[in-house]
Amino acid sequence: MNIKFIKKSLPTSDAHIVFVKSDRKLSDSAKDMDDITGGLISRAIKIGHFEGKFGQIINLVAPANMTINRLVVVGLGDVAEMDKVKAEKIGGKIMATLISSGDESISVAADSLAKSEISHEEFAAHLGLGLRLRRYRFDKYFTKQEESKKPSVIYVSIMSSVAAKAQKIFDDMAAVAAGVEFARDLVTEPGNVIYPESYAEKIKELSSLGIDVEILDEDDMEELGMGALIGVGQGSACESYIVIMRWNGSKNKDEAPVAFVGKGVTFDTGGISLKPGAGMEDMKFDMGGSAAVVGAMHALAGRKACVNAIGIVGIVENMPSSTAQRPGDVVTSMSGQTIEVINTDAEGRLVLCDALWYTQDRFKPKFMIDLATLTGAMMIALGQEYAGIFSNNDTLCDYLVKAGKDVDELVWRMPLSKGYDKLIDSKIADMKNIGGKYAGSITAAQFLQRFVNDVPWVHIDIAGTAWNTEASDVADGGATGYGVRLLDQLVRNNYED
Ligand code: BES
Ligand code: MN
Ligand code: ZN
Repeated sequence: MNIKFIKKSLPTSDAHIVFVKSDRKLSDSAKDMDDITGGLISRAIKIGHFEGKFGQIINLVAPANMTINRLVVVGLGDVAEMDKVKAEKIGGKIMATLISSGDESISVAADSLAKSEISHEEFAAHLGLGLRLRRYRFDKYFTKQEESKKPSVIYVSIMSSVAAKAQKIFDDMAAVAAGVEFARDLVTEPGNVIYPESYAEKIKELSSLGIDVEILDEDDMEELGMGALIGVGQGSACESYIVIMRWNGSKNKDEAPVAFVGKGVTFDTGGISLKPGAGMEDMKFDMGGSAAVVGAMHALAGRKACVNAIGIVGIVENMPSSTAQRPGDVVTSMSGQTIEVINTDAEGRLVLCDALWYTQDRFKPKFMIDLATLTGAMMIALGQEYAGIFSNNDTLCDYLVKAGKDVDELVWRMPLSKGYDKLIDSKIADMKNIGGKYAGSITAAQFLQRFVNDVPWVHIDIAGTAWNTEASDVADGGATGYGVRLLDQLVRNNYED
């Protein structure tokens, strides 16, 4: 899809969008259109219970003498309350209405919002971001999709008196949107397409953005002593990998990097502790944490962020087979600590513990943030609205909460506390890989904390947020790309020179 910002003009698109504020107050462009159409908009508003509330939409057929097919009237609500996230939601709602309408081109009259917190150019640019994010579809495997279900929108023009400024803001955000789309693709691809080897190959594509990509195979990991990660992949015909992405965008090339670490289980059957069959297909998304890391690196490099950043993903497939690890096996992690694998389905922490230890040991980062679809218990606790964060560092948590609000990828802090440690005591090793039935997300985080060596660290459990059952304003149902914008915003707000 092509989005451009242009000066206000008479629309030549298939669909034209105008805004109405609360109390049915027409924007200037809406007034113009109302005049041109002989009062069509004011009439539609009157007969349609339309008050200009946030997100209200009327979809009108344009009069026969006009070049446009369709006139869409969208409510903005109280403009004093307009902000970036709301502008994105409005953009998304417009796209959701028109995506399969048959219209190819749409134009949006983004008039200035007097008295609003957000600048005119920001309003226009964030509308554009919402339009783009909501336009994403994963339809490559349909060979006979009905015409009426296919996305039709290809061209978007956003009309604004500050078009050049809006375009500049948008171009930077478009790099982030590309990262989100890359992550959504990775998560949606099934396990027979994205498996460890193909995934590692796919990540190599990031070198075209100036990212340095390095791959550790099983021999390398064996040498490093990563017994926990290797154990998880042991039952799979696929070799396991760690992929390291490096973006050196800071002026000071020696500045300590920020580090993002991701769980990349390309398919999680549970292993010998096999999952039930119903719904198991969802476990193709178990590399969602790693996809967020890959997408965030894509975004940072795409917009040439002034930061040194490292992305590290542990890529394995968790399969049952005669070579798979058994419940009760004891593995030795790279840190030297031993783990009794009580349940082979608690594999994410086994992958991350070696990836985290390796990251702090080799790169001495400013901080580490890991993302993982780690526990079903996280979905029980927070649902699909918030991801849970667990951390040894208050400042980093505050930064993440703020970044999350800025981009509407919300996080909620959960506790870590010594008291939970006894739940993962093992009778024959340093720890076991599961706690009891209580506090499942916390015991998982408590486990990870033993591998961060006091480096400032946050664990983000995205089990509930990586995938949307229903469509949201900025994503159709399915992979959300959650985490890409969160990490990018964290860097923007706090870590660029
Ligand atoms: N990938 C799953 C977590 C998961 C489950 C995410 C369902 C989203 C939906 C993880 O590897 C897992 O299986 N965790 C177990 C841990 C348990 C065995 C302690 C879980 O949550 O059931
Ligand atoms: Mn599992
Ligand atoms: Zn898993």
